[in-house]
Amino acid sequence: MKSSSKITVPALKARKGAGPKIAMVTAYDATFARLFEQGGVDVLLVGDSLGMVVQGQPTTLAVTLDEIIYHGRAVARGSERAHLVGDMPFMSYQTGPIPALEAAGRMVKEAGFEAVKLEGGVDYAEHVRGIVRAGIPVMGHVGLLPQMVHSMGGFKVQGIEERAAERILADARALEQAGAYAIVVEAVPAELARRVTEAISIPTIGIGAGPHCDGQVLVCYDLLGMYSDFKPKFVKRFAEAGKLVVEAARSYVSEVQSAEFPTLAHAFGVPKERPAAPELTGAKPVVPGTPPSYGPASDES
Ligand code: KIV
Repeated sequence: MKSSSKITVPALKARKGAGPKIAMVTAYDATFARLFEQGGVDVLLVGDSLGMVVQGQPTTLAVTLDEIIYHGRAVARGSERAHLVGDMPFMSYQTGPIPALEAAGRMVKEAGFEAVKLEGGVDYAEHVRGIVRAGIPVMGHVGLLPQMVHSMGGFKVQGIEERAAERILADARALEQAGAYAIVVEAVPAELARRVTEAISIPTIGIGAGPHCDGQVLVCYDLLGMYSDFKPKFVKRFAEAGKLVVEAARSYVSEVQSAEFPTLAHAFGVPKERPAAPELTGAKPVVPGTPPSYGPASDES
């Protein structure tokens, strides 16, 4: 544990009812982890959504345990305070409680995850119990289960019919009884999310589940507005980062093509005239803990 204000499982559980609501976001690398943490995010999730938004695949199914661990290590390096959760990828836990425990153990030992998340309820209660018994906190996930995309017939809202709603309620109760400390509730009607939230004593974290959950999660690329041509109903863009990136790329290309960039001001080995004192230029001294960025900062470094 690196920081005294570290967000812990008991601290998150205590926010049920008492608030403030839990703000969770996905992150896949150290730079975004650091930026989201600076923004006050409570929980960083290395989601298997990385298969879609980072790897460009149509579903999350091809993501491997090694890939989750690889991205988890990067996110762990970029964060100190946020609670770090890793998604258990497809087929890392479905084959039984023992493989599930082994996979969760690798995620904690090799990536530094502080909790794991897995999809499913009643059918995986035994798996959850075993992982929790070993001291690894488990976040559940009910409603739309992207790893079941083929049997669910696509990425569709779940729990619309009363019988389906009752199955989701039973899943949430089973996860709580098995020892889960929080549950993601994905793509269900707002009223069902309210029923689930009221039925259990651990926090619910919604995505496409309306305003009644104890917290919210979004995929970071959705939150940042990386896709200008596609916005699911449940997403709110808090920035138009996609447009910013395209504009920056256009300016870069234009300046490279016109030889406007780089100039000698961006070059090494150019004799300096008289270095101005940092207090006159406003330049910040390099301090320990400054995040790593690519390449030498000056001739001297
Ligand atoms: O994989 C993921 O990013 C997730 C969130 C959408 C909850 O499971």
